[in-house]
Amino acid sequence: MPAAYDAIAKDYQRTKASPVRAAIETWTLGQLLGDCRGLSVLDAGCGDGFHARRLMVAGAARVAGVDVSPAMIELARAEERARPLGIQYACCAVEDLPDLMCAAGFNVVLASYLLHYAPTVEVLGRMCQRLGSALASGGRFVGLTENPDQQPADYPGYAAYGFDKQAAEPRGEGRRITYGLVSGRQIIRFDTYWYSRETYAAALSAAGFGQIAWHPLQLDPSVPTPEFYGDYLRNPPVLGLTAVRRGAVPQP
Ligand SMILES: C[S@@+](CC[C@H](N)C(=O)[O-])C[C@H]1O[C@@H](n2cnc3c(N)ncnc32)[C@H](O)[C@@H]1O
Repeated sequence: MPAAYDAIAKDYQRTKASPVRAAIETWTLGQLLGDCRGLSVLDAGCGDGFHARRLMVAGAARVAGVDVSPAMIELARAEERARPLGIQYACCAVEDLPDLMCAAGFNVVLASYLLHYAPTVEVLGRMCQRLGSALASGGRFVGLTENPDQQPADYPGYAAYGFDKQAAEPRGEGRRITYGLVSGRQIIRFDTYWYSRETYAAALSAAGFGQIAWHPLQLDPSVPTPEFYGDYLRNPPVLGLTAVRRGAVPQP
Protein backbone atom coordinates (compact mmCIF):
# COMPACT_ATOMS: atom_id res chain seq x y z
CA MET A 1 0.00 0.00 0.00
CA PRO A 2 1.47 3.40 -0.92
CA ALA A 3 2.32 5.66 2.02
CA ALA A 4 0.25 8.83 2.42
CA TYR A 5 3.21 11.05 1.60
CA ASP A 6 4.02 9.29 -1.70
CA ALA A 7 1.46 11.37 -3.55
CA ILE A 8 2.56 14.67 -2.03
CA ALA A 9 6.32 14.16 -1.53
CA LYS A 10 7.57 16.83 -3.92
CA ASP A 11 4.85 19.31 -2.93
CA TYR A 12 5.54 18.75 0.76
CA GLN A 13 9.24 19.35 0.14
CA ARG A 14 8.34 22.73 -1.40
CA THR A 15 6.58 23.79 1.82
CA LYS A 16 9.93 23.64 3.62
CA ALA A 17 10.56 27.11 2.13
CA SER A 18 7.78 28.62 4.31
CA PRO A 19 9.18 31.24 6.74
CA VAL A 20 7.71 29.39 9.75
CA ARG A 21 9.98 26.43 9.00
CA ALA A 22 13.17 28.39 9.54
CA ALA A 23 11.99 30.90 12.13
CA ILE A 24 10.16 28.48 14.45
CA GLU A 25 10.44 24.82 13.41
CA THR A 26 14.18 24.63 12.79
CA TRP A 27 14.99 27.08 15.58
CA THR A 28 12.90 25.19 18.17
CA LEU A 29 14.37 21.84 17.17
CA GLY A 30 17.85 23.32 17.33
CA GLN A 31 17.21 24.55 20.87
CA LEU A 32 15.79 21.19 21.96
CA LEU A 33 18.51 19.13 20.26
CA GLY A 34 21.38 21.22 21.57
CA ASP A 35 24.90 20.44 20.42
CA CYS A 36 24.87 17.19 18.43
CA ARG A 37 28.51 17.34 17.38
CA GLY A 38 30.05 13.88 17.58
CA LEU A 39 26.70 12.18 18.28
CA SER A 40 24.83 9.55 16.29
CA VAL A 41 21.31 10.61 15.35
CA LEU A 42 18.34 8.72 13.95
CA ASP A 43 15.96 11.04 12.07
CA ALA A 44 12.70 9.10 12.37
CA GLY A 45 10.09 10.10 9.79
CA CYS A 46 12.89 12.01 8.06
CA GLY A 47 10.90 12.98 4.97
CA ASP A 48 13.29 14.39 2.37
CA GLY A 49 16.10 14.55 4.92
CA PHE A 50 15.80 18.29 5.59
CA HIS A 51 16.76 18.00 9.28
CA ALA A 52 19.07 15.02 8.77
CA ARG A 53 21.24 17.14 6.50
CA ARG A 54 21.28 20.04 8.93
CA LEU A 55 22.44 17.74 11.72
CA MET A 56 25.18 16.19 9.61
CA VAL A 57 26.44 19.61 8.51
CA ALA A 58 26.33 20.74 12.15
CA GLY A 59 28.83 18.03 13.05
CA ALA A 60 26.90 14.88 14.03
CA ALA A 61 29.17 11.84 13.76
CA ARG A 62 26.51 9.74 12.09
CA VAL A 63 22.98 10.41 10.84
CA ALA A 64 20.51 7.82 9.59
CA GLY A 65 17.04 8.62 8.31
CA VAL A 66 14.00 6.37 8.09
CA ASP A 67 10.63 7.10 6.54
CA VAL A 68 7.66 4.98 5.57
CA SER A 69 7.23 6.78 2.25
CA PRO A 70 9.38 5.49 -0.64
CA ALA A 71 8.85 8.79 -2.46
CA MET A 72 10.13 10.82 0.49
CA ILE A 73 13.14 8.51 0.88
CA GLU A 74 13.86 8.85 -2.82
CA LEU A 75 13.93 12.66 -2.45
CA ALA A 76 16.33 12.29 0.47
CA ARG A 77 18.56 9.88 -1.45
CA ALA A 78 18.52 12.12 -4.53
CA GLU A 79 19.80 14.96 -2.36
CA GLU A 80 22.44 12.64 -0.90
CA ARG A 81 23.54 11.61 -4.40
CA ALA A 82 23.73 15.26 -5.51
CA ARG A 83 25.57 16.50 -2.41
CA PRO A 84 26.91 13.48 -0.47
CA LEU A 85 27.08 13.92 3.30
CA GLY A 86 27.26 10.26 4.29
CA ILE A 87 23.66 10.02 5.56
CA GLN A 88 22.10 6.54 5.32
CA TYR A 89 18.42 6.32 4.48
CA ALA A 90 16.03 3.40 4.85
CA CYS A 91 12.41 3.07 3.85
CA CYS A 92 10.60 1.63 6.82
CA ALA A 93 7.72 2.34 9.19
CA VAL A 94 9.09 3.45 12.53
CA GLU A 95 6.83 0.99 14.34
CA ASP A 96 8.51 -1.80 12.32
CA LEU A 97 12.08 -0.56 12.73
CA PRO A 98 14.27 -3.69 12.36
CA ASP A 99 16.43 -4.87 15.25
CA LEU A 100 19.48 -4.33 13.08
CA MET A 101 18.88 -0.58 12.99
CA CYS A 102 18.03 -0.49 16.68
CA ALA A 103 21.27 -2.29 17.54
CA ALA A 104 23.17 0.84 16.54
CA GLY A 105 22.40 2.48 19.90
CA PHE A 106 21.82 6.05 18.71
CA ASN A 107 22.49 8.99 21.03
CA VAL A 108 19.53 10.98 19.73
CA VAL A 109 16.27 10.20 18.00
CA LEU A 110 14.72 13.13 16.18
CA ALA A 111 11.00 12.78 15.47
CA SER A 112 9.95 15.98 13.76
CA TYR A 113 6.19 15.71 13.13
CA LEU A 114 6.13 11.94 13.51
CA LEU A 115 4.27 10.50 16.49
CA HIS A 116 0.93 12.09 15.55
CA TYR A 117 0.82 9.92 12.42
CA ALA A 118 0.10 6.91 14.61
CA PRO A 119 -3.52 6.07 13.73
CA THR A 120 -4.12 4.21 17.00
CA VAL A 121 -2.80 4.22 20.56
CA GLU A 122 -1.40 0.77 19.88
CA VAL A 123 0.69 1.99 16.91
CA LEU A 124 1.81 5.01 18.95
CA GLY A 125 3.03 2.58 21.59
CA ARG A 126 4.92 0.48 19.04
CA MET A 127 6.53 3.59 17.51
CA CYS A 128 7.79 4.66 20.93
CA GLN A 129 8.93 1.11 21.69
CA ARG A 130 11.04 0.87 18.55
CA LEU A 131 12.46 4.37 19.00
CA GLY A 132 13.33 3.51 22.60
CA SER A 133 15.11 0.39 21.38
CA ALA A 134 17.06 2.44 18.84
CA LEU A 135 18.53 4.64 21.56
CA ALA A 136 21.49 3.91 23.77
CA SER A 137 20.78 4.12 27.48
CA GLY A 138 20.60 7.83 28.35
CA GLY A 139 19.89 8.70 24.72
CA ARG A 140 17.45 11.50 24.00
CA PHE A 141 14.19 11.66 22.10
CA VAL A 142 13.45 15.09 20.58
CA GLY A 143 10.24 15.67 18.68
CA LEU A 144 7.59 18.04 17.47
CA THR A 145 4.09 16.67 17.68
CA GLU A 146 0.42 17.72 17.68
CA ASN A 147 -0.37 20.19 20.44
CA PRO A 148 -2.52 18.10 22.82
CA ASP A 149 -3.85 21.24 24.51
CA GLN A 150 -5.65 22.60 21.45
CA GLN A 151 -9.35 22.13 20.89
CA PRO A 152 -10.73 21.95 17.33
CA ALA A 153 -12.18 25.43 17.93
CA ASP A 154 -8.57 26.69 18.18
CA TYR A 155 -7.61 25.34 14.75
CA PRO A 156 -8.61 28.23 12.45
CA GLY A 157 -6.26 31.19 11.98
CA TYR A 158 -3.21 29.73 10.27
CA ALA A 159 -3.90 31.04 6.74
CA ALA A 160 -1.14 33.66 7.03
CA TYR A 161 1.30 30.82 7.68
CA GLY A 162 0.30 28.83 4.62
CA PHE A 163 -1.92 26.10 6.02
CA ASP A 164 -5.21 25.20 7.60
CA LYS A 165 -6.12 22.64 10.21
CA GLN A 166 -9.52 21.06 10.81
CA ALA A 167 -11.12 18.41 12.97
CA ALA A 168 -14.58 17.44 14.03
CA GLU A 169 -15.68 18.07 17.61
CA PRO A 170 -15.36 16.60 20.12
CA ARG A 171 -11.64 15.98 20.56
CA GLY A 172 -10.73 12.42 21.51
CA GLU A 173 -7.90 9.88 21.52
CA GLY A 174 -7.04 8.97 17.94
CA ARG A 175 -9.43 11.55 16.43
CA ARG A 176 -8.40 12.57 12.94
CA ILE A 177 -7.06 16.06 12.21
CA THR A 178 -6.79 17.20 8.58
CA TYR A 179 -4.13 19.65 7.44
CA GLY A 180 -4.07 21.55 4.16
CA LEU A 181 -0.70 23.03 3.21
CA VAL A 182 -0.27 25.61 0.47
CA SER A 183 2.38 24.36 -1.93
CA GLY A 184 2.82 26.62 -4.93
CA ARG A 185 -0.63 26.99 -6.45
CA GLN A 186 -2.17 23.95 -4.84
CA ILE A 187 -3.14 22.70 -1.42
CA ILE A 188 -1.89 19.33 -0.26
CA ARG A 189 -3.85 17.50 2.41
CA PHE A 190 -2.88 14.90 4.97
CA ASP A 191 -4.21 13.58 8.25
CA THR A 192 -2.74 13.40 11.71
CA TYR A 193 -4.24 12.06 14.94
CA TRP A 194 -4.85 13.69 18.29
CA TYR A 195 -3.61 12.16 21.55
CA SER A 196 -3.62 13.58 25.06
CA ARG A 197 -0.49 14.36 27.02
CA GLU A 198 -1.29 11.36 29.21
CA THR A 199 -1.39 9.01 26.22
CA TYR A 200 1.94 10.25 24.88
CA ALA A 201 3.45 9.97 28.36
CA ALA A 202 2.10 6.43 28.82
CA ALA A 203 3.45 5.30 25.42
CA LEU A 204 6.88 6.81 26.05
CA SER A 205 7.06 5.56 29.61
CA ALA A 206 6.13 1.99 28.62
CA ALA A 207 8.90 2.16 26.01
CA GLY A 208 11.51 2.91 28.65
CA PHE A 209 11.56 6.70 28.53
CA GLY A 210 11.74 9.04 31.51
CA GLN A 211 12.08 12.81 31.93
CA ILE A 212 9.17 13.32 29.53
CA ALA A 213 8.68 17.04 28.95
CA TRP A 214 6.62 19.30 26.71
CA HIS A 215 8.09 22.51 25.34
CA PRO A 216 6.63 25.66 23.80
CA LEU A 217 7.69 26.63 20.30
CA GLN A 218 10.42 29.24 20.16
CA LEU A 219 11.11 32.00 17.67
CA ASP A 220 14.56 32.64 16.26
CA PRO A 221 15.47 35.94 17.94
CA SER A 222 17.17 37.15 14.76
CA VAL A 223 13.97 37.23 12.65
CA PRO A 224 13.29 40.80 11.47
CA THR A 225 9.46 40.66 11.89
CA PRO A 226 8.71 38.80 15.15
CA GLU A 227 5.15 40.20 15.30
CA PHE A 228 4.28 38.19 12.17
CA TYR A 229 4.67 34.97 14.17
CA GLY A 230 2.59 36.12 17.15
CA ASP A 231 -0.65 34.29 16.29
CA TYR A 232 1.27 31.10 15.57
CA LEU A 233 3.17 31.16 18.84
CA ARG A 234 0.12 32.08 20.93
CA ASN A 235 -1.83 29.18 19.44
CA PRO A 236 0.86 26.64 18.47
CA PRO A 237 -0.35 23.77 16.26
CA VAL A 238 2.46 21.55 17.56
CA LEU A 239 4.63 21.44 20.67
CA GLY A 240 8.10 20.17 21.41
CA LEU A 241 8.31 16.82 23.20
CA THR A 242 11.49 15.41 24.73
CA ALA A 243 12.34 12.32 26.76
CA VAL A 244 15.37 10.38 27.89
CA ARG A 245 15.79 6.63 27.56
CA ARG A 246 16.22 4.91 30.87
CA GLY A 247 18.39 1.79 31.30
CA ALA A 248 16.87 -1.50 30.16
CA VAL A 249 13.99 -1.17 27.70
CA PRO A 250 10.86 -3.18 28.55
CA GLN A 251 9.97 -5.76 25.88
CA PRO A 252 6.41 -5.74 24.50
C1 LIG B 1 5.28 16.18 8.06
S1 LIG B 1 6.45 15.10 7.35
C2 LIG B 1 7.90 15.57 8.29
C3 LIG B 1 9.18 15.19 7.61
C4 LIG B 1 10.43 15.61 8.37
N1 LIG B 1 10.50 14.97 9.68
C5 LIG B 1 10.48 17.10 8.53
O1 LIG B 1 10.33 17.62 9.63
O2 LIG B 1 10.69 17.75 7.49
C6 LIG B 1 6.04 13.56 8.11
C7 LIG B 1 6.85 12.40 7.61
O3 LIG B 1 6.61 11.28 8.46
C8 LIG B 1 6.53 10.14 7.65
N2 LIG B 1 5.80 9.10 8.40
C9 LIG B 1 4.49 9.07 8.74
N3 LIG B 1 4.21 7.97 9.42
C10 LIG B 1 5.37 7.28 9.54
C11 LIG B 1 5.73 6.04 10.13
N4 LIG B 1 4.82 5.29 10.75
N5 LIG B 1 7.01 5.61 10.04
C12 LIG B 1 7.93 6.36 9.39
N6 LIG B 1 7.65 7.53 8.79
C13 LIG B 1 6.39 8.00 8.87
C14 LIG B 1 5.82 10.59 6.39
O4 LIG B 1 6.02 9.71 5.31
C15 LIG B 1 6.46 11.97 6.19
O5 LIG B 1 7.60 11.90 5.39
